Amino acid sequence: MLQIKALGKRYGDFAALAGVTLSVAPGEIVSLVGPSGCGKSTLLRIVAGLDRGFTGSVTLAGRPVTSPSPEVGVVFQEPRLMPWLTVAENIAFGVEGLAPSATKVADAARQVGLGDFLTAYPRQLSGGMAQRCAIARALMPKPGILLLDEPFSALDAFTRMNLQDLVLRLTQQDGVTLLLVTHDVDEALYLSDRVLVLGCAPSQVQEEVTVDLPHPRDRRDGRFAALRTRVLTTLIDLQTPTAS
Ligand SMILES: Nc1ncnc2c1ncn2[C@@H]1O[C@H](COP(=O)(O)OP(=O)(O)OP(=O)(O)O)[C@@H](O)[C@H]1O
Ligand SMILES: [Mg+2]
Repeated sequence: MLQIKALGKRYGDFAALAGVTLSVAPGEIVSLVGPSGCGKSTLLRIVAGLDRGFTGSVTLAGRPVTSPSPEVGVVFQEPRLMPWLTVAENIAFGVEGLAPSATKVADAARQVGLGDFLTAYPRQLSGGMAQRCAIARALMPKPGILLLDEPFSALDAFTRMNLQDLVLRLTQQDGVTLLLVTHDVDEALYLSDRVLVLGCAPSQVQEEVTVDLPHPRDRRDGRFAALRTRVLTTLIDLQTPTAS
């Protein structure tokens, strides 16, 4: 689905990404974790077609990524809803060209638990509701891949767990590929088939952890705990300056 080869990105003299190579299979769920500033959002923006100033190659379903496309849904940390549009209008907003029917929009709202809030405005929503609206908007064009950049990090633990299950439910029924950036190791392990740990300077994949546990996963499971220890150990090692 997604192929990234030798991806490099510079901001002036600073190399934000230096030769990142990774691939994501159709329907796969892959999480990227790593220290702050190691280029995770930069990588996601490039895959979303929002940043064209890079070296290396990025292809989606065999086609080079050059601009945003309905094939790629994006959910950011903050919902980024249009404050002057209702929930229904925000959900329909992402679909270019043909406006989706009112029935389709109402269905999408119902699937994220906002069926009774079609005419509400973003200021009338809680943080979790607003993010559910953003998820419905991202999925409305039926993307093949959904990119999520710390989508639940501003939410409380219970809301976060509910939204993790919601995203799994909504995407797995259609086989949507997921690429998730998160600082929450449990979230990465709960959702993903693979967790990639990105290191800094140079930003490259330092470790790949396959999460071979059936869904629904139990965060209290011993195997889950062992994987958590493995990812955390890599992250702590990456942040500990090596003695020279
Ligand atoms: N527009 C920009 N101009 C200059 N430098 C930038 C720009 N955007 C990002 N950077 C730098 O590139 C590096 C990677 O930034 P990025 O936002 O991708 O990190 P991140 O891994 O997402 O961090 P975090 O986990 O804190 O969200 C950082 O050092 C950042 O300062
Ligand atoms: Mg970021």
